[in-house]
Amino acid sequence: MVTAPGQFGARILDMARRLAQWSELPDGLMCTYFSSAHKAAAAQLREWMGAAGLQAEIDAVGNVVGRYPSAAEAARTLIVGSHYDTVANAGQFDGRLGILAALVVAEHLHRTGRRLPFHLDVVGFSEEEGVRFSAPYLGSAAIAGRFDAGILERCDENGTSLAAVLREGGVDLAAIKMLARRPDTLRGYVELHIEQGPVLLQRGLPVGVVTGIAGSARFRITIHGAAGHAGTVPMSARHDAAAAAAEIVLAVEQRCAAAATLVGTVGQLAVPHGLINVIPGCCEFSLDVRAGDDATRDAAIADILTAIARIAARRGVTADVIELGRHAAVPCAPAMQTALAQAVARAGTEPLHLASGAGHDAAMFAGVTDIGMLFVRCGNGGISHSPLETVTSADADLAARVLLDVLVNLAK
Ligand code: HGY
Ligand code: MN
Ligand code: MN
Repeated sequence: MVTAPGQFGARILDMARRLAQWSELPDGLMCTYFSSAHKAAAAQLREWMGAAGLQAEIDAVGNVVGRYPSAAEAARTLIVGSHYDTVANAGQFDGRLGILAALVVAEHLHRTGRRLPFHLDVVGFSEEEGVRFSAPYLGSAAIAGRFDAGILERCDENGTSLAAVLREGGVDLAAIKMLARRPDTLRGYVELHIEQGPVLLQRGLPVGVVTGIAGSARFRITIHGAAGHAGTVPMSARHDAAAAAAEIVLAVEQRCAAAATLVGTVGQLAVPHGLINVIPGCCEFSLDVRAGDDATRDAAIADILTAIARIAARRGVTADVIELGRHAAVPCAPAMQTALAQAVARAGTEPLHLASGAGHDAAMFAGVTDIGMLFVRCGNGGISHSPLETVTSADADLAARVLLDVLVNLAK
């Protein structure tokens, strides 16, 4: 059965809906690394890739790789993919849209007997969000040759280490290094992804060409103060860890409002074993700082760390700051941007170029091979990381047709 252009969108959205059935939540989508839902989603993707005529397998770290081989055995490989893991209470399209669009396009090429001068690897990366082990881009880093073995000791909220989960899954940790692709074997990397913002929606455009991906840094911060009786300790004598954290959150908000592409987010904040009548002696929170360029990001981080030290000293608390990871801002390859823009124009729509504030697996391949990204319009004001995330069938169809056009034209 050949899915004709015009029907790609309906198939993509139907598969996204079906893939969302596997979740760790009773009411909402959550699919995190190596959970049973995650393994079921991987198995489903592998089955769909096989049915599409691809040589499909699940690799040592859970990436689902479907190859549409070139006629030329020694050909280089173009990787087209995105991630199938999700945040908590996620939308159905973050990451998954890119995998499914690549899948239907590869199937179309196979069914119509259109061989390419490069192997086409459709990849569902296993762990981009970094929800369970605070290790974003784990799957794509392995294939890009950037896997950091240091993350193997990271533990989930139950204290289970990544190494233990992989060993339990029968993964030979040495095999992970074997997943790395040699740069000279790669033709490039392309990722189709929802914009996760309002720009295309506001401009009335279905797709956009990504110019670059913001640089990011993630931290875990613990404030240690003095617990005490909520009724008997005078306000002037307190070393309230939560109050200190709250002042730091506001300092982050104020500093990160100071530059155009700079953003700072405290997404997690908790008082361990907190009680209504106890002054918080401890407060733990996350920090995510990003900017369109590393200098802007790093200057903001330096100022935030200074503010933390100042606030802690004045309040008589201490702050432990652990950096979880830092990823450089990366440009998309000019040649890929041109190829995508020309395909978008041929599809009859204005090729708007825009930057990505969100991180993507593509960032792992920057510097390894030419990377390109195509954004797809999000509805509901551009919301993402929410069940309100939405994409139209028409936009998904047009994006898949643009992807098909890019592949065919890269082949020339
Ligand atoms: O955090 C991000 O930008 C992406 O959703 N992992
Ligand atoms: Mn995401
Ligand atoms: Mn994503």
